[in-house]
Amino acid sequence: MAGSGHYHIDFGGSMTKRKTAAVVLAAGMGTRMRSALPKVLHPVAGRPMLRALLDTVEDLAPERVVVVVGPGMEAVGRAAAPHATAIQEQRLGTGHAVGCAGAALGGFDGDVLVLYGDTPLVTRKTLDRMLEARRKAPEPVVVVLGFRPRDPGEYGRLLTDPATGEVTAIVEHGEATPEQRAVGLCNSGVMVVDGARLFGLIDRLGADNAKGEYFLTDIVALARKDGGRCVFVEGTEEELIGVNSRKDLARAEAIAQDRLRDAAMEAGATLIDPSTVYFHHDTRLGRDVVIHPHVVFGPGVTVGDGVVIKSFCHLEEAEVGRGALLGPYARLRPGAEIGEDAHIGNFVEIKKAKVEKGAKVNHLSYIGDGRVGPGANIGAGTIFCNYDGFDKAFTDVGAGAFIGSNSALVAPVKVGDGAIVGAGSVIAKDVAGDALAVTRGPHREIPGWAARYRAKKKKKKD
Ligand code: UD1
Ligand code: MG
Repeated sequence: MAGSGHYHIDFGGSMTKRKTAAVVLAAGMGTRMRSALPKVLHPVAGRPMLRALLDTVEDLAPERVVVVVGPGMEAVGRAAAPHATAIQEQRLGTGHAVGCAGAALGGFDGDVLVLYGDTPLVTRKTLDRMLEARRKAPEPVVVVLGFRPRDPGEYGRLLTDPATGEVTAIVEHGEATPEQRAVGLCNSGVMVVDGARLFGLIDRLGADNAKGEYFLTDIVALARKDGGRCVFVEGTEEELIGVNSRKDLARAEAIAQDRLRDAAMEAGATLIDPSTVYFHHDTRLGRDVVIHPHVVFGPGVTVGDGVVIKSFCHLEEAEVGRGALLGPYARLRPGAEIGEDAHIGNFVEIKKAKVEKGAKVNHLSYIGDGRVGPGANIGAGTIFCNYDGFDKAFTDVGAGAFIGSNSALVAPVKVGDGAIVGAGSVIAKDVAGDALAVTRGPHREIPGWAARYRAKKKKKKD
């Protein structure tokens, strides 16, 4: 309903449910990243920054989301799924990019949230404040999200009317006078715009600037010319960092990690030295989990209540049951399932294997493609020989079994419940329950041999 005027009905003063759509700009390759990977696919806390942003946007339950991508950026399109993508054939600026989303938005006349794919840490709370500002009478046409970074650098600057506090224009750094560059209030790139007016404003943008681009930021001055109001909401530098280089990416990662650490502690985990624990965005911790310094979580890890993870553990795609004890120096690889109260000790690697309730694998072992039954004890240096160079095979250790130190279990093989394997054995055949299996050579001893040997050697040297 572009051009027909915009109104909404307010029921009893409460905020009415207004429609929101989002346009996310992600057509830039991000040349300053010096990467074969499009900028918005670089991960923050293990998830592409575009995904991180979309997860926040999805939280608002918008009617429609359109991601603007460059030609040939299919991988970005896949990361944007299930949302629509619009292709910006030529990178003619942020205003032009928003224009490319017009067709996909199909005459949407609610509130349009514009976000930049390289500004992924903006919070739901801040977006809510912007939508609120947009819906407060007299309704502004544009709400800009501003912030005051310690170093304003090359961000665009918000010019405001000292009397009303309204935004009169946004000037890009390259276009700004020295006085304008002295302004500390910067443009984050995030905006909420009246959808009924947005594309009319975009159509009127010119590219008469040093970069020769259609700047989205110029819609503020245009809306003012039409007598519309533009206001700003202020966010924090932490959430509005724009990622243009690897250095920025590392800064964004540090901010995301701090958020995850805070969330873990708020949910009831103890982190003895939070700054040394690295989470993945999807890490799930139970209550009263204690994490010692220097622990790294890869994707897909779930940790039950009361688990203690000692220093230098690395976990990915693993599940740890309540009360288990890990580390120090344990490695859980994909498919590791650690049962309740089980112990996994130092230099133990578990892959695609279940260590059931109360079982112990305490030292220097590889447990791959198998099961360790409840209460079983795996001695130091035990290896599950799961691979013959072609195929993987399964090792099954029964409940309460005891595997002596430095044993090799050659899969496929099964050690029955309660069986004992003597230390140093190579077990390539199944062992019956409650049996003893030993495959060491017999003990042979020659009295006095060592002394005679030394004497002979010494004589030769003299
Ligand atoms: C932009 C803003 C600046 C703001 C800064 C905040 C403009 C003109 N400038 O500058 O005021 O302070 O962000 O980080 O908007 N993009 C496209 N197509 C294009 C151009 C850009 O999709 O043709 C996308 C990029 O992929 C990126 C985003 O828009 O995700 C911003 O572009 P970028 O070149 O990084 O703009 P800045 O120079 O950072
Ligand atoms: Mg940028």
